[in-house]
Amino acid sequence: MAAKSPFLLLLLSLCLILCFSSTANAQLSQNFYAKICPNVESIVRNVVANKIKQTFVTIPATLRLFFHDCFVQGCDASVMIASAGGNTAEKDHEDNMSLAGDGFDTVIKAKAEVDKVLQCKNKVSCADILALATRDVIAMSGGPSYAVELGRRDGLTSTASSVTGKLPHPTDNLNRLNALFASHRLSQTDMIALSAAHTVGFSHCGKFSNRIYSNPIDPTLNKTYAKELQDMCPRIVDPRIAINMDPITPRKFDNEYFKNLQKGMGLFTSDQVLFTDARSRQTVNTFAQSSTAFFNAFAAAMTKLGRVDVKTGNQGNIRIRCDAFN
Ligand code: HEM
Ligand SMILES: *[C@@H]1O[C@H](CO)[C@@H](O)[C@H](O)[C@H]1NC(C)=O
Ligand SMILES: *[C@@H]1O[C@H](CO)[C@@H](O)[C@H](O)[C@H]1NC(C)=O
Repeated sequence: MAAKSPFLLLLLSLCLILCFSSTANAQLSQNFYAKICPNVESIVRNVVANKIKQTFVTIPATLRLFFHDCFVQGCDASVMIASAGGNTAEKDHEDNMSLAGDGFDTVIKAKAEVDKVLQCKNKVSCADILALATRDVIAMSGGPSYAVELGRRDGLTSTASSVTGKLPHPTDNLNRLNALFASHRLSQTDMIALSAAHTVGFSHCGKFSNRIYSNPIDPTLNKTYAKELQDMCPRIVDPRIAINMDPITPRKFDNEYFKNLQKGMGLFTSDQVLFTDARSRQTVNTFAQSSTAFFNAFAAAMTKLGRVDVKTGNQGNIRIRCDAFN
């Protein structure tokens, strides 16, 4: 019947739209690889453990890599892509994110181990491997462990220009930080918890020299600490020098970050402002006082960070090499 076929066509196209968009919007799940690659978590964990034995830098480098990946075009390993053939990739953005090589290396090594298992070969995304490795480095430095949601697909683009305006800057105030994190559905509490990632890792002197060589010195900075920073970082910035961001327990993932803020020992303006600004101070005090409260908030915030603009279902692909498009 003539009247029926356009109706059927309509139904069919409606289903096509709905069915496809429902796979595209597929949720991440903790057991995504249960049948596809059941041992993926232990494979990644072993690589991460071995890599940490070689260098501690693995820990901050991997953690920061995940954050930068998620904030630019979602958690899709686009940050891993190397510039090639005239395309300047995210990792080479002029903002100079100075992402340490050991984060990239961790993911590439873990991917190689995963792909050695026939069943797993080319089935696990670089984005998921980065998410797992990040959980592992946090746990292996004394931080909270948490179940990682999986099923991300790898992105098909990576451009330096897409980075502009997406990442927070060390000079940002609370409004700017809140706006940036809120644009990824992360609350002020999430933002405060995540900022404590600065409990591990290093910063180059140029990122905070404005605070210690201004006249007067940044009044929110502890005077004793300012003097120590001046001793470590000459006025004429030496780009080779990087210092511990948490001077008290630099290699431990703990809540010392918040205790430092209470003493005026936040390294960046964006760190110290969390205590200086009355709107966020109470949360800082809570996390400084209770490691458990901080760990719970951090794990929850990492899970939310891991959902930012993810590609799932038939979006993106599974990259064969993490640093190059297929
Ligand atoms: C809230 C706003 C944030 C700002 C303004 C910021 C800024 C910075 C800056 C300027 C550095 C030093 C880079 C260098 O000199 O090499 C740094 C390092 C680092 N950031 Fe952040 N960050 C922020 C949030 C985060 C978040 C949410 C995470 C992770 C969840 C993170 C993880 C790290 C790590 C681990 C390092 C040390 C990297 C290393 O040692 O290789 N940051 N950050
Ligand atoms: C980028 O970082 C490298 C290494 O930290 C440094 O040598 C270089 O001068 C930086 N470039 C810019 C434009 O800041
Ligand atoms: C500055 O830091 C020291 C520890 O380095 C601490 O004893 C002191 O109370 C801090 N000063 C302020 C004003 O918080």
